[in-house]
Amino acid sequence: MEMTFARVGWAAGVLSATALCTAAMATELEVTHWWTSGGEAAAVAEFAKAFDAGGDTWVDGAIAGSGGVARPVIVSRILGGDPMGATQLNHGRQAEELVEAGLMLDLTDVAEAEGWRDIVNPVSLLDSCTVDGKIYCVPVNIHSWQWMWLSRKAYEEAGVDVPTNWDEFVAAAPALEEKGIVPLAMGQQAWQTAGAFSVLNVGLGGEELWKKVNVEKDADAAAGPEMARIFEAFGNARSLAAGSTVQDWNQATNMVITGKAGGQIMGDWAQGEFSLAGSKAGVDYECLPGLGIKEVISTGGDAFYFPKQDDAEIEAAQKRMASMMLSREVQVAFNLAKGSLPVRGDIDLSAANDCMKKGLEILAKGNILISGDQVLSADTQGQVEDLMVEFWNDTSITPADAQARYASIIADAD
Ligand code: GAL
Repeated sequence: MEMTFARVGWAAGVLSATALCTAAMATELEVTHWWTSGGEAAAVAEFAKAFDAGGDTWVDGAIAGSGGVARPVIVSRILGGDPMGATQLNHGRQAEELVEAGLMLDLTDVAEAEGWRDIVNPVSLLDSCTVDGKIYCVPVNIHSWQWMWLSRKAYEEAGVDVPTNWDEFVAAAPALEEKGIVPLAMGQQAWQTAGAFSVLNVGLGGEELWKKVNVEKDADAAAGPEMARIFEAFGNARSLAAGSTVQDWNQATNMVITGKAGGQIMGDWAQGEFSLAGSKAGVDYECLPGLGIKEVISTGGDAFYFPKQDDAEIEAAQKRMASMMLSREVQVAFNLAKGSLPVRGDIDLSAANDCMKKGLEILAKGNILISGDQVLSADTQGQVEDLMVEFWNDTSITPADAQARYASIIADAD
């Protein structure tokens, strides 16, 4: 089509206006998170790329260490009047005091304009962002703790079949130990041991027992015989991880990737490490949802919150970021890199690997369990984590001792 001079002039005018608008809109946002492993960094890069492509600038504020290290830093900065533009937290109750203090940006206008309640699946994730009917975070993924990862190489070297459930895993442990392979890889941070405990609790005790203790906060159930069996199994798991001396979760995952350990109980963020190492699900490693006993997905995961700042330009950029994180293309790119399940059901995930597909199938069946982050306060979570890591590292503490202390934590849980 021949462009007349007038049309060319008009087009140039539009382009320069767009450029000016983009330039005017271009806003830097500092984003804090604790995603520092290889797989996590690859996933963050997808968010940063998409935000920058929209004309703004993602200023990365990664905080090394786990969520247990990062969250106090994030909260104290917000409370101390030095807010970041956006921050990762786990969706659930971690930000409830910040929201109640009026320090977090209300995203309800964006959520309603874009129909988040019709998009986010399960919608319970959005409920976890909602306080007094207003929405204060954008859920970005579903990360389930309810997984175990197994190294095919380790079991081939030990001459035994790859376990298909917890009992087979325990039975195969001696064959691994004979070959100098650590049966269970575990890092030394409290959230890791507490997470493994929750997976044994759900896998061996069932969802109803887990809910009785964590949702109903029934201290008698916590002190009861069914939970005694879970603590016994946790004591056994402790002995199977005696040779695991690494600190960080992804170092423990690397033990499975390299065949130095038979398995790891860890959330599906471990997938990001496998894929970055070029390991293939079903070829190099196997995944057991629900310890291979009852397939379930717990709806843990991550959301982004936006501390309020008296600056209309920053607020507009914060809302652009929230919208970008829930967009179809970013949900695919980010979650494939992160190894998590997306928070929307209307996207194409044919590129997902076998383990992610297992997770999507379980989600589609509705075998969903609410996560501890969504039902326990950060304070109660912290007390449970401290107990579990102390038990894990002090073999003089018996399962019965640990259970008695656990029951008293649940008695006071909020
Ligand atoms: C979790 C978070 C995941 C994962 C993990 C380990 O709290 O939801 O995204 O990164 O920490 O860092």
